[in-house]
Amino acid sequence: MDLGFSRKSVVITGGASNIGRAISLGFAREGANITIAEIDLKQAETVAEEARTAGAGSVQIVSCDVTDIVQVEALFAAANTAHGAVDVLVNNVGWDDLMFFTQTTPELWQKIIQVNFVGVLNCTRTALTEMLANKNGSIVSISSDASRQGESREAVYGGMKAAVNSFMKTIAKENGRFGVRCNVVCPGVTIPEETGEVGVNSMWADKDAMFTEDQIATIAKSLPLRKLGRPEDVANAVLFLASNEVAGHVTGQVLSVSGGYSMIG
Ligand SMILES: NC(=O)c1ccc[n+]([C@@H]2O[C@H](COP(=O)([O-])OP(=O)(O)OC[C@H]3O[C@@H](n4cnc5c(N)ncnc54)[C@H](O)[C@@H]3O)[C@@H](O)[C@H]2O)c1
Repeated sequence: MDLGFSRKSVVITGGASNIGRAISLGFAREGANITIAEIDLKQAETVAEEARTAGAGSVQIVSCDVTDIVQVEALFAAANTAHGAVDVLVNNVGWDDLMFFTQTTPELWQKIIQVNFVGVLNCTRTALTEMLANKNGSIVSISSDASRQGESREAVYGGMKAAVNSFMKTIAKENGRFGVRCNVVCPGVTIPEETGEVGVNSMWADKDAMFTEDQIATIAKSLPLRKLGRPEDVANAVLFLASNEVAGHVTGQVLSVSGGYSMIG
């Protein structure tokens, strides 16, 4: 099925590692013109090369910290220059350091708020300027099932991801009449299998710091599908929601891709 992404201008934040990497490669296979916004330029180079091999129309890397609005404006200017006005924005950047709320500090809260929420505001605001002018655009933000269920050791992160869900619904309501669709994908635990799938900044660069092997096995066993998801599972949902061809009447939705961990009616 043609998802309609050939030569479309797609901006993917954090597109070099794990889920972001799978999203970049998914759009590459559809022939999209991709801009990877990253702070890890080395890993981005590796993924850009993989994306070119996979069939991307064009791939560029832009050094951009999404928490900085000036860098974000430069990102979209660079995407526009190389590939034209942005058709698809994937707000994929996210970060957490797992610990109980009583162990966290106000400094850590600020970092989690900036990376998981303010980065989404910066990119969405800047992308909307171009999308509204063209009366066309699709935004998909990567949230987390921690936003829907509540999850131990993810208090501030889960709160910010819940903010992303709510924010995206409002943006969908405000801008649908101008041809802009906005949706959210909530992954469950999605762990890289190969070291080459993640960069040095990845939350998964030291897997053991996140979950022990026993914890991972327990999580997998607890899911209705009895297995953890792969980054490609999340990427497939992103491509579906981003596509005007197959999801042209879908907006303001929050879709879990988590093996049945959460089931929201
Ligand atoms: N992997 C999971 O189990 C899981 C579960 C639920 C939700 N998520 C969400 O999915 C998304 C991707 O997760 P992942 O596991 O692939 O992450 P990851 O840590 O492997 O990769 C994140 C990428 O974002 C980049 N990045 C970090 N901060 C940045 C910034 N300020 N500006 C630009 N780039 C920045 C990093 O360099 C890295 O390449 C995140 O939003 C995360 O919260 C992941």
